[in-house]
This record gives sequence, C-alpha cells and structure tokens, in this order.
Amino acid sequence: MNLLLLGRGKTGSLVAEVARERKHNVEVAGSKENAACAALTSGKLSGIDAVIDFTTLHCVLSNIEACVKAGKNMVVGTTGWCGEKQGELDRIRTLVGQHKTGFVYAANFSIGINLFFDAARAAAAALRHGYSGQIFERHHVHKKDAPSGTAIALQSLIYEEVREASPTEPLEITSFREGEVVGLHELVLESPADRIYLCHDAKSRRGFAEGAVRAAEWLQGKKGFYDFKDVWREL
Ligand SMILES: NC(=O)c1ccc[n+]([C@@H]2O[C@H](COP(=O)([O-])OP(=O)(O)OC[C@H]3O[C@@H](n4cnc5c(N)ncnc54)[C@H](OP(=O)(O)O)[C@@H]3O)[C@@H](O)[C@H]2O)c1
Repeated sequence: MNLLLLGRGKTGSLVAEVARERKHNVEVAGSKENAACAALTSGKLSGIDAVIDFTTLHCVLSNIEACVKAGKNMVVGTTGWCGEKQGELDRIRTLVGQHKTGFVYAANFSIGINLFFDAARAAAAALRHGYSGQIFERHHVHKKDAPSGTAIALQSLIYEEVREASPTEPLEITSFREGEVVGLHELVLESPADRIYLCHDAKSRRGFAEGAVRAAEWLQGKKGFYDFKDVWREL
C-alpha cells in the first residue's frame, strides 16, 4: 500500500518503521510539512491508499476532515478528541458516511490491550456483587492528555457493562505521569473480602504501531466507521 503517515514523533516514527517492514511505501509529514493541512490536498493525496494519524489534539480534527473530504481511508491513533467530546465522534461518523470512506480509530491499537479490555469486561461483573472499582494509569511525563484515552475507553466499557443492571457512576480514574513509562493501566476491584487486580503494561510502542498498520491493511477496499475494538479479531 501507499501510506501517508502524519506525525513523526515517538509513535509515528515506529508506525513508519513497521509499515516499511511490512513492505508498504510510506511518506511521512510532520508539523512543518502539514501546517494548515498542506499535505492533505486532493492533489497531494492522489496515489495514497490510506492516511495514518499519530499527531496531536490540536490538529487531528482538521486532519480528519481534510482526509475524509478528499475521499481517503484513514486510521487515527491520536487521542483526546473522542472521549468526552462524543459530539465530535458523531460528527466525524456522519462525515465518513457522507464521503463513503473507510475510517478506523482507537485510543489503543495494541492487541494486548484489547484482550485486557475483554478481561475487564468479564471482571466488571464484580461491581454487581458489592465490589468497588478504580482505574489507575501511568504514562511518561511528556504525555499531553490526562486521563489517557485508553483509561477513558476502559472506564466506558465497564460502565456500559454494568449500568443496565445497576445504576452507577463511572469508575474514578487516577493518572500518574512519571519518567518514560510507555503506558500502564490497572483495574482494581475491591470487596471487604478480597481484591482483584488486572494490569496491562506496555513494554514498548511496537504493539500500537503494528495494530495501526494492520488496521490500515484491513481497511483496504472497505467503507465505514470502525472502532478498532470491534475489528481487531478480524486482523
Ligand atoms: N492509539 C494508540 O494506540 C496510541 C498509542 C500511542 C500514542 N497515541 C497517541 O498518538 C498521539 C501521538 O503520540 P506520540 O507519543 O507519538 O507524540 P509525539 O512524540 O509528541 O509526536 C507528535 C507528532 O505530531 C506531529 N505533528 C504535530 N502537528 C502536526 C500536524 N499538523 N501534521 C502532522 N504532524 C503533526 C509532531 O511533528 P513535529 O515533531 O514535526 O512537530 C510530532 O512528530 C498522541 O495523541 C498519543 O496519545 C495513541
């Protein structure tokens, strides 16, 4: 595939490396080349099969709008735009439908975290049996958003799992920023009798990069708006 990667930061540079290992042609645009979406005109995107975005909250929505309007498939890993801002998610879903493109997004593209989400969904049953719950997330000091998109996704899936059976508040998230921690997420469920810990600890960014590239491959020839958590089993 011919891929355009937006962002050459910590994650984007690894996405480019993984994509090249998987024999794709990769062009990369950072903040300079893509100021005011300069890299995303129809002309510049002709010949590109999919655009992958690992940039920042400040530019991700403009990037998405430009790519979708140009009719390009897109994989978006940038976080912070679709958590509390449910309205933005709906707006982009509509835009993708109008322009008949393909779109996959995720707060976390690693297969491991998606398995962790499945385990968390099962463990959430504890909340219907008198347990209380908390979410903890730890990331490197350079991370700009807090709580992490992954912690918000974990909070939402647990809330969805239990709210029908028992009206409850979403679990509290506590964020820590320290050193160069790649990404650690914990779900702790506690009763007077015992405590359940579930933990996912990313050892490197490679899991995110592989998931994003494989999502772009999966999206080829497809249209529609997809959350990676609903499609990773098909990769
Ligand atoms: N979904 C997942 O699995 C996952 C995993 C890890 C991280 N993330 C998210 O991905 C995003 C990037 O993370 P990171 O750790 O790679 O951050 P980072 O190291 O700070 O990199 C951000 C990059 O964005 C570039 N950028 C800024 N504005 C741009 C624009 N208008 N067009 C193109 N590029 C632009 C910057 O380019 P310059 O250096 O040229 O200024 C920089 O290379 C964050 O939102 C993070 O939370 C998601």
